[in-house]
Amino acid sequence: MVGAGVSTPSGIPDFRSPRSGLYSNLQRYDLPYPEAIFELTFFHHNPKPFFALAKELHPGSYRPNVIHYFLRLLHDKGLLLRLYTQNIDGLERVAGIPASKLVEAHGSFASATCTVCRRPFPGKDVWAEVMVDRIPRCPVCTGIVKPDIVFFGETLPQRFLLHVVDFPMADVLLILGTSLEVEPFASLSEAVRSSVPRLLINRDLVGPFAWRPRSRDVVQLGDMVHSVERLVELLGWTEELQDLMRQEAEKLNGRDR
Ligand code: APR
Ligand code: ZN
Repeated sequence: MVGAGVSTPSGIPDFRSPRSGLYSNLQRYDLPYPEAIFELTFFHHNPKPFFALAKELHPGSYRPNVIHYFLRLLHDKGLLLRLYTQNIDGLERVAGIPASKLVEAHGSFASATCTVCRRPFPGKDVWAEVMVDRIPRCPVCTGIVKPDIVFFGETLPQRFLLHVVDFPMADVLLILGTSLEVEPFASLSEAVRSSVPRLLINRDLVGPFAWRPRSRDVVQLGDMVHSVERLVELLGWTEELQDLMRQEAEKLNGRDR
């Protein structure tokens, strides 16, 4: 299970870190309160702040970091049952984790939907407008076309229901870079069997690790990159991970040329 903390080393702010978090830096958008940027009522009143944020988060402007590639290595080694992410930056896909192994619980920019006639559109149709600061409009009914990011109160993607099968089967649960404040995602942390070890890697203690710890919980607090690199070293995978990151960086450089 991952949250915005795994993408801060890629240069994308998380939401709730004091001072650096997105929610402390939205003054320029004149929002009634920070979360409004992901609320439908506010979006219909004024979609500009969301699309301005989308432009800042445009995929292609950021690259996966060592944490994404550690998760990719878990997959390459046949150890990743599924990666549940709250992030909308798509960096898990860029790191080469197949869509079949991903649950993008808060949606993604890969697709979009007209907010009036519900017609689906490929995400790329929206980006052309967003990047030139225009509000994407439906060619059929002129309604606003919204990327399939899950706004507060919206239902999560169907794939989120995979948790009913996945979590009871998990042998270990890793939780990285999330405040575990948003439901229903946060409750997944309690969905593994009580005998299953849970490892929290995060700057600070969060969610049930703070108020209802289990006997087999392991908590590694502090900087995410340092913690993951230490875990990789203990696993004896440092060299393998560095090779993977080198190969993937060359691929991405080739793509950007
Ligand atoms: N090292 C260690 N921990 C970090 C680092 C880092 N470099 N950067 C951030 N963190 C931690 C923060 O301390 C915080 O506990 O990651 C966590 C990020 O929490 P949030 O900012 O709340 O992000 P997240 O949990 O993903 O938010 C969940 O809220 O607004 C909604 O839809 C949005 O998906 C998002 C959801
Ligand atoms: Zn329409």
